[in-house]
Amino acid sequence: MCGIIGIVGRDEVAGRLLEGLKRLEYRGYDSAGIATLRNGAIETRRAEGKLGNLESLLEREPLAGIIGVGHTRWATHGVPNETNAHPHATERVAVVHNGIIENFRELRAEVVGRGRNLASKTDTEVVAHLVTLYLEDGLAPPEATFAALKRLEGAFALALVFAGHTDLLIGARRGNPLAIAHGKGEMYLGSDALALAPLSRRITYLEEGDWAVITKSDATIFDAEGAEIRRSVTLTEPSDGLAEKGGHPHFMLKEIYEQPQVIGDTLRAFVNPATRSVSLPELPFDPARVTRLTLVACGTAYYAAMVAKYWLEGIARIPCEVDIASEFRYRGADMADEGAMVVVSQSGETADTLAALRYARAQNQPTLAVVNVPESTIARESDAVLRTFAGPEIGVASTKAFTTQLTVLACLAIVAARARGAIDAEREAELAAALVEVPARAADVLNHDERIRELSHVIAPARDVLYLGRGTSYAIALEGALKLKEISYIHAEGYAAGEMKHGPIALVDESVPVIVIAPSDPLFEKTASNIQEVAARGGRVIFFSDREGVGRLAEIAAATVALPAVDPFVAPILYAIPVQLLAYHTAVLRGSDVDQPRNLAKSVTVE
Ligand code: G6P
Repeated sequence: MCGIIGIVGRDEVAGRLLEGLKRLEYRGYDSAGIATLRNGAIETRRAEGKLGNLESLLEREPLAGIIGVGHTRWATHGVPNETNAHPHATERVAVVHNGIIENFRELRAEVVGRGRNLASKTDTEVVAHLVTLYLEDGLAPPEATFAALKRLEGAFALALVFAGHTDLLIGARRGNPLAIAHGKGEMYLGSDALALAPLSRRITYLEEGDWAVITKSDATIFDAEGAEIRRSVTLTEPSDGLAEKGGHPHFMLKEIYEQPQVIGDTLRAFVNPATRSVSLPELPFDPARVTRLTLVACGTAYYAAMVAKYWLEGIARIPCEVDIASEFRYRGADMADEGAMVVVSQSGETADTLAALRYARAQNQPTLAVVNVPESTIARESDAVLRTFAGPEIGVASTKAFTTQLTVLACLAIVAARARGAIDAEREAELAAALVEVPARAADVLNHDERIRELSHVIAPARDVLYLGRGTSYAIALEGALKLKEISYIHAEGYAAGEMKHGPIALVDESVPVIVIAPSDPLFEKTASNIQEVAARGGRVIFFSDREGVGRLAEIAAATVALPAVDPFVAPILYAIPVQLLAYHTAVLRGSDVDQPRNLAKSVTVE
């Protein structure tokens, strides 16, 4: 994982490298570091922990130089301490790396055998020593780098600076993204366009296997065979400054509260409220004829895909399968003739989701991506994109990205249902009208924040928490449990309510809060029976439903929250919000780092 940035410039770089790293912190925050050249010699500053530690170190011990590289780490090989922090440097080269060098053990033995001393436990340090050995053999930096690249197995994006070369930055990518930004008399290199946005909007994305020799005036790009190659320059969207918390104590809460707005922004792109009809950009498959949709994603996006399966099967009558990307990609599944792949990803950079997308492309499946970052690798490699308009999501636990993913997928279900004749214009209008109501109803749900904060006092002391639901509420139960685990570190499980009696009911006693998500829908009675079963065994049920549902089960539930009554079609979008709030308030009570929970990263760019 990790984020990397490089500047070959005219002016001092340390401050700007640090700013770039702030924009890359979503890729990991186990440690951070930068290296610059001062009078041609490599100097580094590295610090364990979040970027703030590096920032303080730089205040105490500033780093001069007009060329340098920076790194923010999510540890894969070697614990997150200063020694394992990047940049890894020898006297001749400093390297930052995103990815995993799979053959590092063999290479390590080789460079140690040739007299090099390695300090860290990382897979990266070996790259610095390998390049150094080639430099000592008399190769110039580009040739030494190319020779080393040919020896590396695995996935990587690399940036290197060389002692004595104040106008030379080298970047290379295989498997992990890397972009060059073109400035005026300066050039930049970074993991994504977001990190580079304040420096320049003119971006060249390196392709698989590319490597580039960058000076302050130019970039020369080579392919994996070493042949010079041209890559186009694109203009990225203007970027906002680094997002602010807007008066909220955490980004996560701010993003939860933005949901009425961003769901509305997303709906405006696809739904005409006057005609109550839905239209999408051209799809890469014919929804009337597609035989099977394969929906693949990771984490929270996977639960959005899971809700979509219920919609696409139940409303549009399209056979669907939904899978976790890391499982799907190695399953060796034959994909259906006339089938299509839908990937869902906030960042558009998740390594497993990207690999699943490439797998589908290799199987000649048309590919559609639901993504939040339009310049992302997944967006660029898919045949078509349906964009979520969530805006930048900073909190590691996904909130507004999830509900906007659901919004887009709901639109897809309506369009596909119409194309297949599974619904008529009248039903389309009803479903579209229900969607158009969502922003206002989401604002109503947020009015229950204080009540949910009170309930977090019941959850915070628990060791285990169960979340139950049926149908689309089952996916929300899973998402609720994931949210709680991610940020409060309480063990939580989401379960299909009907499956409770096949095992998890054995866990139920007074110490295990059971959160039930059950809007009034055709499955309500079934879930109600399961709640009775839990209550009969002393379970403490916290019940999220609408006024009617709450009225029917108030007596047996330990606590209830009556949300607005809505068309069951849109219920999962709205019921996502209270589970987000419950996880948030519980995490705050427990004092965990809500926006940057331990061991996690916002974008998982390793498999
Ligand atoms: C990480 C994040 C999750 C996210 C998942 C998938 O685990 O912490 O919040 O749901 O990655 O990310 P993506 O960017 O593909 O949606």
